[in-house]
Amino acid sequence: MRVLLTGGSGFIGSHIALLLLENGYDVLILDSFINSSSNVIKRIKIYLDSKDIKYKLETINGDIRDKKLLDSIFINSINENKPINIVIHLAGLKSVAESLIKPLNYWDVNVLGSLNLLLTMKEYECYSIVFSSSATIYGLCESLPIREDHKISPVNTYGKTKVAIENMLYDLYKSNKNLWKIISLRYFNPVGAHPSSMIGEDPIGIPNNLFPFLTQVAIGRQRMLQIYGDDWETNDGSGVRDYIHINDLAEGHLASLEYLNSKDSCLEFINLGSGHGYSVFQIIKQFEISTGCKIPFSIQSRRDGDIAKCYADISKAKRLLDWTPKRSLEQICLDGWNWQVNNPNGYS
Ligand SMILES: NC(=O)c1ccc[n+]([C@@H]2O[C@H](COP(=O)([O-])OP(=O)(O)OC[C@H]3O[C@@H](n4cnc5c(N)ncnc54)[C@H](O)[C@@H]3O)[C@@H](O)[C@H]2O)c1
Repeated sequence: MRVLLTGGSGFIGSHIALLLLENGYDVLILDSFINSSSNVIKRIKIYLDSKDIKYKLETINGDIRDKKLLDSIFINSINENKPINIVIHLAGLKSVAESLIKPLNYWDVNVLGSLNLLLTMKEYECYSIVFSSSATIYGLCESLPIREDHKISPVNTYGKTKVAIENMLYDLYKSNKNLWKIISLRYFNPVGAHPSSMIGEDPIGIPNNLFPFLTQVAIGRQRMLQIYGDDWETNDGSGVRDYIHINDLAEGHLASLEYLNSKDSCLEFINLGSGHGYSVFQIIKQFEISTGCKIPFSIQSRRDGDIAKCYADISKAKRLLDWTPKRSLEQICLDGWNWQVNNPNGYS
């Protein structure tokens, strides 16, 4: 089984790549390295070699918007008698804040890039895809836990591009219901790191998300954690989110591949989260208990577009994919912390 993994050098992609390789999949990573380091690939290889695992991994440095490159990838795969069976599509831009400042970049990379990929897949008769969508598409949360049939109403450009891609996938499936096998996974907040500390999250610049910010404060790379609002309607006033261990998320992809293999055709939109909501203060407390680090923080005013609570109903993933998240919040804190301690400057 050969998998084309776009964005495979990024935070999520690298953990999926490692898991697929450990499970005997042949993996072809396509990444422009615009938001990741080529050291990721080296680390994956070192880890697999250290475990004496034989693997098939190829990496191409390129952009999903480059149609000629995509054509050549699919043609070469066919000519070499190792056609691409499934695509896991993660490549894209992911910062909510940046998407509001540079909206056209997001429409270009995320939407046109995905269109390009789907056009190429159709041309070379590769009809199976797992797509990285996001809980951002639900926008203001009207009911909890959030089910997949919750209203779709994104409040930022990033979320709108994810909805546009989901719509594209929907139309494609409807155009020939016997042909396409499609799963769109709506991630909540993937955090933590591989327990080996060989791969983890290494954001460029100041982290946008709570967890990498927290670990960078703990290691002394950032002075203080900023908490946006302590007057939300939650138990302790801080925002509540659904944090899922990155390896649980990666296993959700493995389960998705197995599901697609068992089907003649399908289209499913599936939440991947832990199913639990934790407040920012709860995360800080657990992190301090698990690691012994003290986290200084300051309270800032709420950010535009933020909401009080958001966590997933994951019953559909359990039912369809036979998948359940296994790792605790403590494990998340420990693995995230170990990654940071062993790699204080990330991959550089
Ligand atoms: N991390 C999250 O919290 C989160 C939540 C929901 C959804 N997602 C989605 O999951 C996917 C992966 O997220 P991540 O956290 O690993 O992000 P990431 O930035 O670490 O990984 C994305 C990868 O895509 C590559 N890339 C970007 N533009 C490209 C292009 N035009 N052509 C080829 N490669 C390109 C980047 O270099 C990077 O390696 C993204 O689509 C993101 O929107 C992430």
